[in-house]
Amino acid sequence: MDIKKDLEELKNRALEQLKDVDDDQGLEKWRVFYLGKKSPLNQVLRGLASLPIEERRLVGAMSNDLKLLFESNVEQKRLSLYSSAVTTLQEKGRLDVTLPGRPVAQGRLHPTTRIVRQICDIFSAMGFQVVEGPEVETDYYNFEALNIPKDHPARDMWDTFWIDRKDENGERTTLLRTHTSPMQIRVMEKTTPPIRVVVPGKVYRYEATDATHESMFYQVEGLAVDKGVTFGDLKGCLYEFARRLFGPERKARFRCDYFPFVEPGVEMAIDCFVCAGKGCRLCSNTGWIEILGAGMVHPDVLRHVNYDPDVYTGFAFGMGVERIPILRYGIEDIRLFYGNDLRFLRQF
Ligand code: DAH
Repeated sequence: MDIKKDLEELKNRALEQLKDVDDDQGLEKWRVFYLGKKSPLNQVLRGLASLPIEERRLVGAMSNDLKLLFESNVEQKRLSLYSSAVTTLQEKGRLDVTLPGRPVAQGRLHPTTRIVRQICDIFSAMGFQVVEGPEVETDYYNFEALNIPKDHPARDMWDTFWIDRKDENGERTTLLRTHTSPMQIRVMEKTTPPIRVVVPGKVYRYEATDATHESMFYQVEGLAVDKGVTFGDLKGCLYEFARRLFGPERKARFRCDYFPFVEPGVEMAIDCFVCAGKGCRLCSNTGWIEILGAGMVHPDVLRHVNYDPDVYTGFAFGMGVERIPILRYGIEDIRLFYGNDLRFLRQF
């Protein structure tokens, strides 16, 4: 039984060498040599198949025992190296084990991320799918297909960052999306109704920044298209959303507003959750807080994506995300959101 003797020798040699190991690198070398892929032990195991069955069983068991022995010896050695290093440091007066430990910094979600997720969760529960789209858009999706042709005065509603790219007529073609609405078109182009989607994402405005304006912020867009979708569906859906986000006692108010891609267009407000409608600083004494724009998808927009407006109708909505924590927590300056000041971010 040569192999038995070999294993015995291997064991003695290995443990003898381990005694001489006196630092972590030495230990790692030892471990790789005796427990790594090309270890003598593994070579024995590889030769196992050529042995007669009884011997195979015996040698197999011995090798496994040896492997376990090596492994536990490595751990023991690691601990003893560690504790002797600690003792050395203590003796030199360089380590005080009685000092309290340092707190481990814990990460958390950005306030915008949290609200985006809350909004998307509410709509998911109502059967909406969450999709995302490109931040670099074309004039076509951001404006043209949304019923905002060139030179239309409504373009002034969105101050635009243009990208230096022009078509053959010298017209600018590419921009940073000024709203998430272009995804309405992209989704409709690729889908046949029924459609129910929400689109969270960053949008950009060419604006001087101040306490209430940022050049980048988040929006969530929504779109529902099918046969027979009505303004009542819009109201019911958005009312339910507001109650789930702001509390079941919230009231909602819809008033006419203008957006070129919807008809009729509305703005939706909820009764102020600070003063419950009596009037306070948060709601500028009106009792109402505007939270989103919405409306029935304009027939011309439907035609742009080859939907027959006599067959299909739909509603759309869009809301600014930062506005919600700003209202909820009384944040005074929108620039705090992306200023990366941990003192601000850690409060959420
Ligand atoms: N895109 C608009 C904006 O950025 C918000 C909006 C209003 C989106 C009405 C809509 C809508 O889908 O129907 O100001």
